Amino acid sequence: MKLLIRDLAQLATPIGGEPPFRGSDLAEVEVLENAFVLCDGETIEEVGRMRELGAVDGDVVEVDGRGLCAVPGLVDCHTHAAFGGDRVDEFSLRAGGASYEELHAAGGGILSTVRATRALGEDGLRAAVEQHRDWMRRAGMTTFEAKSGYGLDKDTELASLRAIHDAGGIPTWLGAHAVPPEFADADAYLDFAIAEVLPDAADIAEAADVFLERGAFDAGQARRYLEACADVGLALRLHGDQFTESGAIPLAIELGARSVDHLEATGEDGIKALAASAVTAVMLPASALFLDRPMPPARALVDAGAAVALATDFNPGSAFTESLPLVCSLAATQLHLTPAEALAACTVNAAHVLGRGDAIGRLEQGFRADIALLDAPDWRYLAYHLGAPVVSRVVIGGELA
Ligand code: NIG
Ligand code: FE
Repeated sequence: MKLLIRDLAQLATPIGGEPPFRGSDLAEVEVLENAFVLCDGETIEEVGRMRELGAVDGDVVEVDGRGLCAVPGLVDCHTHAAFGGDRVDEFSLRAGGASYEELHAAGGGILSTVRATRALGEDGLRAAVEQHRDWMRRAGMTTFEAKSGYGLDKDTELASLRAIHDAGGIPTWLGAHAVPPEFADADAYLDFAIAEVLPDAADIAEAADVFLERGAFDAGQARRYLEACADVGLALRLHGDQFTESGAIPLAIELGARSVDHLEATGEDGIKALAASAVTAVMLPASALFLDRPMPPARALVDAGAAVALATDFNPGSAFTESLPLVCSLAATQLHLTPAEALAACTVNAAHVLGRGDAIGRLEQGFRADIALLDAPDWRYLAYHLGAPVVSRVVIGGELA
């Protein structure tokens, strides 16, 4: 079955060679006016201007694209979508002046979501992940990564990874997110996680992640955890430099990690080191906004030549938003990235972070037919129309969702 989206006001896609895109390549977006995209099954067969459209043979479903713009389906490469409950009480306390780190230290924060997630059971977790996926889809997401990390016991961690996988997500084992209350310290917990959970987690997850931060895991503990995960074939990610520079960047570079994510506290040396490395800098401006923290040094990273990606960090505590369009707006208004740079950062470069840069994230022949249709006369409304439901629908693998 073919799908033809015709008479689009515009089609916009990052173009270029091998991802990740860096420096000035990040802004290389091709824009076609009065365009079409033709999908054959799960794959893009052709994109072009309407005047170049030839006869299409076989069974074709046609979609009227008048008044719409097509961009690649958005790729969310960093979410914590497997959780129960909410943190609206904590949100209200923070609004009144309490800090995120204080709440965490007092046994609230991540650990309160751990209690709610453990209480859900496997069916409840599946329903939660599906609901969160549907929210993300409505905002234009066609591929998502999601982390475990709110179970922190064997059953709930594995149930989280299965729920993510079965909902169509790409699972990351965030076994080192926090130390659960039944363990005396971080080392004792890591002994358990590596011996008891990792062997099974490695069968479901594609990557491992660690929260390297004051009050969570230090650089030595992160190294031990990540090395054990790399030994069984998992790709590596790190939550680093969120509140303090704690050595995540040198560790990521040394271990060949795919990304360091957050970077709100990263200084000059970290920027230079990342720019000279193969590690992608994943920026999460919705989290910085939600916690009223400084924004990551995005402009400096791009100008220095680092590979950058953008993601939501969707979670109940530090970033309760599923919207990559909002993240693009924050990128333009707070991170000083152009709409073109933001688009590449949450499509082609995000796909690269997920090990899929050759298959998704572009509207180009041979790529997967994942498309976000914007209700807008110009594709840059993706970043410009702040807080709006700018995505009218998505196509996933050649099917209208
Ligand atoms: O990426 N910083 C660590 N983990 C999450 C937040 C988790 C939570 O607050 O529940 C993050 O921001
Ligand atoms: Fe996160």
